[in-house]
Amino acid sequence: SPTAQRAREIAAAHAHLDGPLLPVLHAVQHALGHIPREALAPIAEELDLSVAEIHGVISFYPDFRTEPGGRRTLKVCRAEACQAMGAARLGDDLRTRLGVDWHGTTQDGAVTLEPVYCLGLCACGPAALVDETPVARATADRLERMAREVVG
Ligand code: FES
Repeated sequence: SPTAQRAREIAAAHAHLDGPLLPVLHAVQHALGHIPREALAPIAEELDLSVAEIHGVISFYPDFRTEPGGRRTLKVCRAEACQAMGAARLGDDLRTRLGVDWHGTTQDGAVTLEPVYCLGLCACGPAALVDETPVARATADRLERMAREVVG
């Protein structure tokens, strides 16, 4: 498939690196939006690893996703300074409103909710990112509105 072919090319391009697996996985996720199951075998072949090893690495790092994400990604800071400013409650509100757990994507494919640990906005928490846009003193209303804004 084109996906497997693309994954193979990316893996081959990084195979000379010392410890190529993480760079390959990042590059595949960047190119394809997630790391599909069918990408694993070609990566394993190119890097001379087992599919199980690759799978283990993917599940270890929460940044890797094996399912397609939503059209927008909403990242909510869960680190200490933001917790002190109500981030736990904010996270609960958003999970309820969107009907997803952390790392989940809404039914309509609009939004993926991800936890992050410090965005450098600790002085004005709770902090969040809607795609690349930082949001200070975030509220669930504002974040949901931004995340659901129609793209383009
Ligand atoms: Fe949330 Fe630093 S702790 S931005």
